[in-house]
Amino acid sequence: EKGTYPHYMLKEIDEQPFVLRRIIANYQDENGKLAVSSEIVNAVKEADRLYIVACGTSYNAGLVGKSLLENISKKPTEVHISSEFVYNTPILSEKPLFIFISQSGETADSRAVLVKIKEMGYPSIAITNVKGATLYRETDYQMLLHAGPEIAVASTKAYTAQIAVLSILACTIEDDCSFDMLNELSRAASVMEGLCDNKELYENLAKEYLIESRNCFYIGRHVDYYTCLEAALKLKEISYIQAEGFAAGELKHGTIALIEDNTPVVAIITQEKINLNTRSNIKEVKARGAAVIAISMRRLSAETDQIIIDDVHEKLTPLVSAIPAQLLAYYAALYRDCDIDKPRNLAKSVTVE
Ligand code: F6R
Repeated sequence: EKGTYPHYMLKEIDEQPFVLRRIIANYQDENGKLAVSSEIVNAVKEADRLYIVACGTSYNAGLVGKSLLENISKKPTEVHISSEFVYNTPILSEKPLFIFISQSGETADSRAVLVKIKEMGYPSIAITNVKGATLYRETDYQMLLHAGPEIAVASTKAYTAQIAVLSILACTIEDDCSFDMLNELSRAASVMEGLCDNKELYENLAKEYLIESRNCFYIGRHVDYYTCLEAALKLKEISYIQAEGFAAGELKHGTIALIEDNTPVVAIITQEKINLNTRSNIKEVKARGAAVIAISMRRLSAETDQIIIDDVHEKLTPLVSAIPAQLLAYYAALYRDCDIDKPRNLAKSVTVE
């Protein structure tokens, strides 16, 4: 139930730190170490390449998952949109393993891929929130999200849960994982809590920058680019503001032509090694009139309105940078009088192809 919350979406955003702690608790062995079943570890180790297949927000989580799997466990990973995969099937490696990411576990586009790869004889894992859902039943292995029921159509806590479960998978399949994932995830949960407590800031920024605007751009590099894709999807689907996420380095190759006076641009900067590059992109869009909000781990110049994120491990920043983006979308939709939990034309589980 919503309890005192005006919308399920807001409640589900606030639940994210608890969900993350629940995931940590559910993926621990008797010695308190992060663990997944040995069948899954073996299946991943035997595979020469992982193919993540998903739609929408789950696809965006898959992009972050690829970065985690490749960087932490050195496992080559591709990410595919389910509806494209069926007829635009990539050339597969010798020993592929498929990972289906789906909150509902019922998405028809993803199921169509599962049917196809099963015919080809390939193994599969489902990462889903709903035990016993179609994808859960029809795959060889399963990992649960433990996010609890997600009622709002716009996915929030399932998205960060997907990233958390993928990060646990990445560190448990790597024999000499130097990453203290358990500690780092716990720290991320505390940082999430701090971000959720800062609602007045997002509300004010949404009012000032977004509610009157026709469009909005998110820019970022590396994993921040993936967060930009998800941030833009969230804003589009619930506030109906046309929003796009761009790789910040691509601006000069075309997109910057869209920037006019007062065009809102949200820059996400969590990666130290490329922070100067994205900061110079902020200067470029500001010089063309953009109204910039930065979501970043460092304080930028005083003239830029900013949402500061406390330190988390650089590989896990997508877990926390999603939260300000979700809340900006929420408040933009609220002040535009949109039907936040049930946006027009959308269904919670998409059972048609
Ligand atoms: C966006 C959203 C959708 C779903 C997509 C896949 O907020 O909810 O983009 O992520 O329809 O759904 P699942 O994860 O249930 O397969």
